[in-house]
Amino acid sequence: LAQTAKVTVSNDSKLTISRNIYGQFAEHLGRGIYDGFWVDPKMPVKKQDRIRMDIVEALRKIKIPNLRWPGGCFADEYHWRDGIGPRVNRPKMVNTNWGGVTEDNSFGTHEFLELCKLLGCEPYISGNVGSGTVQEMSNWVEYLNFDGQSPLTAMRKLNGHPEPFNVSFWGVGNESWGCGGNMTPEYYANEFKRYATFAKDYKNAKLKKIATGPSDGDYNWTEVMMKNVGTRMWGMSLHCYTLPTGNWNDKGSATKFTEAQYFNTMKNCLRMEEFVTKHSAIMDKYDPEKKVALVVDEWGVWTNVEPGTNPGFLYQQNSLRDALVAGTTLNIFNNHCDRVKMAALAQTINVLQALVLTQKEKMLLTPTYHVFDLYKVHQDAKYLPIKLDAPDYEVNGNKIPAVNLSASQDKEGRVHLSLVNIDDHKDIVVTANMGDIKWNTVSGQILTSANVTDINTFDKPNNIKIESFNNAQKDGDKVVVKIPAHSIIVLELK
Ligand code: AHR
Repeated sequence: LAQTAKVTVSNDSKLTISRNIYGQFAEHLGRGIYDGFWVDPKMPVKKQDRIRMDIVEALRKIKIPNLRWPGGCFADEYHWRDGIGPRVNRPKMVNTNWGGVTEDNSFGTHEFLELCKLLGCEPYISGNVGSGTVQEMSNWVEYLNFDGQSPLTAMRKLNGHPEPFNVSFWGVGNESWGCGGNMTPEYYANEFKRYATFAKDYKNAKLKKIATGPSDGDYNWTEVMMKNVGTRMWGMSLHCYTLPTGNWNDKGSATKFTEAQYFNTMKNCLRMEEFVTKHSAIMDKYDPEKKVALVVDEWGVWTNVEPGTNPGFLYQQNSLRDALVAGTTLNIFNNHCDRVKMAALAQTINVLQALVLTQKEKMLLTPTYHVFDLYKVHQDAKYLPIKLDAPDYEVNGNKIPAVNLSASQDKEGRVHLSLVNIDDHKDIVVTANMGDIKWNTVSGQILTSANVTDINTFDKPNNIKIESFNNAQKDGDKVVVKIPAHSIIVLELK
């Protein structure tokens, strides 16, 4: 059973898809940092210091551009001085947000920046507004970025790093409307200005300050921030999770779900289009030149935790459904690259919609990882606008568009189309009219599996993996591709 979709791709654009859309988030939460990136010295895996190198190598392969840290909610109770200096002297702390566990602060500022260096990515640090002082944040920036003599830079040298770190992406609090302090937008807008004033730019390290933004459809937050802060912020964040059921009390299972629940998940995921469009329209009113970035620095599927695991650790499996959510969401971001200049999937390792899961020394790459691998071709490529006429995917009388895609052209002139067929049963024949874009050959790669519930396990880590795809043809100027049900394809035209 096949349906058809029509696409027109144009090269009439001057926009670039920022690589920073492909960013990641790693909070001190569950087994994300501790027993994730940062392991027991005795663990029999390749390590540098205590950083797990099999994870680093996997993430280098997909070119993650930035890593957000240390939270999340954790950021607003994190005091950076507790995480520097000799590890034996560092005080322990309680992670009140995530399971009430005690952590030893052995992973702190220097360890995080060493991790970023190994990953070849830019650090994105979230400063503490909720329970920290203006001076504490100001001092952290000086410690990191000042290249002259001061008591703080002397301390940095003593701790083994004479050169400044030149951190640029700087979050001023996190979810200040909730776990970050339960503030009103009016109050937070003033707090942002106060904290931001004293978070200084240093030589070679101009801060890109990112304000707490709204969650989902809180348009009033955006309105107040744009009116009161506007272009004083480099970016404003947006947090938006996909809950399969839409209900925070029972979010649904990561692996056991019906087609109706799958449909509902995809429908909820597609709301990102509405949120990004509407927040952007408000931002356009105050900032028509689009100077302020919309930074979707927490997104992804949030399900119930895996049975038997600590509810505070947010450990969930990752199925083909997660990959379809990732492919769809990244297409939305690419198509909104005029405003969405940065994003971060929550949360890299062992937490929420992870790229990598670990079990002691074992490690697996999730279906979501493979989407980031497929889509890395879009990073810093020229955005190509598309027009799409797609059939519906219908379940129990409810409908959503069955196909979504985005397109770009890289510096070598290669064009990439990333196409997602959400429909669980029907193949879809897509005909893409490439307009003025000249090309001769097409090749492709696909990510799919028999069922949307399929997963990679520690025993079968390659159950779902990227395969080559040969079912796309040239028909004059057009490319014709039959996308199998529930699959993600990236085509290369050159
Ligand atoms: O990603 C998990 C949590 O979700 C983050 O700590 C918080 O910012 C959000 O509510």
